[in-house]
Amino acid sequence: MRPLLYLALAGTVLTHPSIAEVDAPHISITQVNATTRWIEDKPQIQIFDVVLNNTGEQTWLTDSDNLGKKLRPGDSVIVQVGVQNKQGVEPGSKGPATAVAKWGKGDSASRDITATYGMPTYNATPESVNEHESPDWFRDAKYGIFIHWGLYSIPAYGGVGKNENYAEWYWSSQMSRDDPTKTYQYHLENYGPEFLYDDFMANFTAENFRPKEWVDLVADAGARYIVPTAKHHDGYALFDMPETISKRNSVKQLPHRDFLKELFDAAKKYQPHLRRGTYFSMPEWFNPAYSNYTWLNAFGIGPPKNPYTNQTVPYTGFVEVDDFIPDIQYPQMNILAYEYDTDIMWCDITTPTSRLSPKFASEWINKEYANNRQVTINSRCGTIVGDFDTSAEYADDIPLSTRHFEATRGLDPHSFAYNAATPDSAYLNASGIVTTLIDTVAKNGNLLLDIGPKGDGSIPEIMQKHLREAGEWIKAHEESIFSTKYWPSHGPGKGDFRYTTTGDAFYIHLLRRPDGNKGTVVPDPVPYMDGDRVTVVGGSMHGAVLDAMIGDDDKLVLNVSEAVTAADRFAWTFKIGY
Ligand SMILES: *[C@@H]1O[C@H](CO)[C@@H](O)[C@H](O)[C@H]1NC(C)=O
Ligand SMILES: *[C@@H]1O[C@H](CO)[C@@H](O)[C@H](O)[C@H]1NC(C)=O
Ligand SMILES: *[C@@H]1O[C@H](CO)[C@@H](O)[C@H](O)[C@H]1NC(C)=O
Ligand SMILES: *[C@@H]1O[C@H](CO)[C@@H](O)[C@H](O)[C@H]1NC(C)=O
Ligand SMILES: *[C@@H]1O[C@H](CO)[C@@H](O)[C@H](O)[C@H]1NC(C)=O
Ligand SMILES: *[C@@H]1O[C@H](CO)[C@@H](O)[C@H](O)[C@H]1NC(C)=O
Ligand SMILES: *[C@@H]1O[C@H](CO)[C@@H](O)[C@H](O)[C@H]1NC(C)=O
Repeated sequence: MRPLLYLALAGTVLTHPSIAEVDAPHISITQVNATTRWIEDKPQIQIFDVVLNNTGEQTWLTDSDNLGKKLRPGDSVIVQVGVQNKQGVEPGSKGPATAVAKWGKGDSASRDITATYGMPTYNATPESVNEHESPDWFRDAKYGIFIHWGLYSIPAYGGVGKNENYAEWYWSSQMSRDDPTKTYQYHLENYGPEFLYDDFMANFTAENFRPKEWVDLVADAGARYIVPTAKHHDGYALFDMPETISKRNSVKQLPHRDFLKELFDAAKKYQPHLRRGTYFSMPEWFNPAYSNYTWLNAFGIGPPKNPYTNQTVPYTGFVEVDDFIPDIQYPQMNILAYEYDTDIMWCDITTPTSRLSPKFASEWINKEYANNRQVTINSRCGTIVGDFDTSAEYADDIPLSTRHFEATRGLDPHSFAYNAATPDSAYLNASGIVTTLIDTVAKNGNLLLDIGPKGDGSIPEIMQKHLREAGEWIKAHEESIFSTKYWPSHGPGKGDFRYTTTGDAFYIHLLRRPDGNKGTVVPDPVPYMDGDRVTVVGGSMHGAVLDAMIGDDDKLVLNVSEAVTAADRFAWTFKIGY
């Protein structure tokens, strides 16, 4: 991780409740947030996010002013400051804090806030857990691969074209003959009325499941984390648990394998840099023990029925319990947290009834703090807001959000699990992956991009091809993607332009081919001063200096030659160094 003190104080550790000082001309401090994040491996050093704004009319803040950034008048920047409690200050206690920015000869600005000092101990209430934020490793990781794989990968069907729906919803879709996917009819024609959903367990033989190939592909894709489905809404888990909780999993049932363990072991062994998260469905559609918790008429309608006869059928592996939430949901989450050491608890379906999620989250975050591990929980875990928002699901136009978020979609046009009916030409290609990633990152988000392996465990060739091609681009441009921040003053960028920033540079991404000899006009007031060097990032002309000038309307014009254009593909990235 880069030093957190981007400003003049690099290497100094400040103590509070005293003052965080930064040397930098006409600054105002517009925000100071005492965060719940700490510097990786230094749990005693709390991160403060400070937003500085150059309120001057004309004077730029430049290097010579001791600032690690260039700030044109009206521009702002997010700076992180590491702060350590003084001896005797109770972690989690609240009190006054003052951030001071100094520049020139005695000029200064300050802002007072009420801060939480150090890391709090969370208690089992939404108010307490809602203070927790996604850690910096997760914000910096930007790109993860989501993997939907389970019994639904055997039929691999979710309708086609505009009637397509998520193939992982097969069982639920099958229950209604009017469902637009026509899964009811599809199942009848292909498997007959006697073939139950749970009969797919016998087909789930996973003969081509090669966990090393999966994690190698994720690494080749340039992604930094994985989130496989540990249990989807059908309730068939891919991990082990005591029989008192449930026998509905791939270990107790066919094919008697612990797929989550196999995958995580391969990740630890072959791609240890990958963080490992777990998708976990809070409810189960047809679990008899969930029947008194109903939601959207889709969940809590068990025990299951054969839709062709209306007869009640067994829920394979079901074990009688008193109450689904404390006896199944909560213990399963604990198993993922403490036995599978998940880094990201990626819950799904925010049912209002998941009343133990504040308990789960507070215990987990507190315990892992003691282990110097920063873990994170998403926004779909019940009665808590979670560390990061996940409402952008197959969203076309995502706005910039100052709250950290993670966008999800599959390579498939509308399915997370494999849909065998999707033609190869319909998958998101490398160009789409790259531009989606840049767009998301410029808006303060991560991209969790999904693949759907086939029922036998193999990953369709077309998915591998697109991921690897995009991976080449992503790796060659990684300085402009990973560990970057959004541009707080002017947003993600107009038209086809997107921006990302670091402590050393400002990156301009163009999501289409540049405009040739007439010059490419950058539409926003990027921090370019006469004489600055603008260089090419990535491609075969990496590092080449571009012809740049301030044109009409004070806008930066880049003369991107044919050679530079030809040297890259998917997106073109240019860097203004500080
Ligand atoms: C920064 O300062 C400029 C000039 O005073 C002002 O127009 C702008 O709104 C400020 N930006 C923020 C984020 O406060
Ligand atoms: C699943 O197994 C059954 C027999 O147990 C077989 O008839 C069926 O074709 C298999 N389906 C798939 C998709 O492999
Ligand atoms: C099953 O129930 C549905 C909905 O009540 C009904 O439309 C259908 O005719 C029933 N099917 C059989 C075989 O009884
Ligand atoms: C469901 O039943 C259990 C066990 O009786 C009970 O503890 C729980 O509160 C019930 N939930 C609802 C939503 O009624
Ligand atoms: C600081 O916290 C406020 C309130 O939660 C939030 O709106 C703002 O976006 C935060 N600032 C940064 C830089 O994260
Ligand atoms: C990638 O997909 C987009 C959108 O479908 C399409 O316009 C573009 O031509 C594709 N690129 C390649 C190289 O196939
Ligand atoms: C861009 O560079 C080319 C080649 O040097 C030159 O012919 C052209 O006039 C330049 N365009 C602009 C807008 O400066």
